[in-house]
Amino acid sequence: MTQGQQAGSLLLQPAEVQDLDQLLRLEQESCPLPWTSTMFEAELRGNPFGHLSTVRLVDAAGRPSEIAGYICFWVVFEELRLMNLAVASPWRRQGLGMALVRHALSVGLEKGAGRAVLEVRGSNEAARKLYEGLGFVQTAVRTKYYTNPIEDALLMEMVPLLVG
Ligand SMILES: CC(C)(COP(=O)(O)OP(=O)(O)OC[C@H]1O[C@@H](n2cnc3c(N)ncnc32)[C@H](O)[C@@H]1OP(=O)(O)O)[C@@H](O)C(=O)NCCC(=O)NCCS
Repeated sequence: MTQGQQAGSLLLQPAEVQDLDQLLRLEQESCPLPWTSTMFEAELRGNPFGHLSTVRLVDAAGRPSEIAGYICFWVVFEELRLMNLAVASPWRRQGLGMALVRHALSVGLEKGAGRAVLEVRGSNEAARKLYEGLGFVQTAVRTKYYTNPIEDALLMEMVPLLVG
């Protein structure tokens, strides 16, 4: 993805330091164990494998909305790791989550990754369905992996990596 690339009425961009407040607000409303500012900053500044991308909607006049969603992923040699994903509640069920994951898969492919992996809470049906719809399959369960609340993690992967 290049800076400012548009996909239809969606604008996908690399996150910047000035986006931190919006990212934190969205993270806090979306995740039971929200990432902290330090964690986001580490992805923005200190992780050579890390990518943090945002999505905005663009109106008919070409004006972008506030950040509607984001994805954090790592491309570690042959492996794409999906680390974090959220879409703001007013914009859910409009394909943004799918667009963000497809973007990560495309970057992974461009960089030579051959497989994609992720962890998801067992109760997170929305995310599980999204990943299954893209071709991820469950490979293992990590019992009581998450806290707040204590819950199993489902490990999912896509091999080979394809952008459906
Ligand atoms: C999971 C999440 C990112 C999905 O984002 P989204 O933009 O609403 O997803 P999309 O509109 O792209 O949905 C794609 C598909 O995923 C599935 N899906 C998404 N939300 C769903 C829900 N609430 N219930 C069931 N299936 C759902 C559907 O198959 C959907 O396709 P459809 O709308 O044609 O039926 C969003 O619900 C979210 O931010 N949740 C809180 C944070 C989170 O759980 N992050 C994932 C951590 S692993």
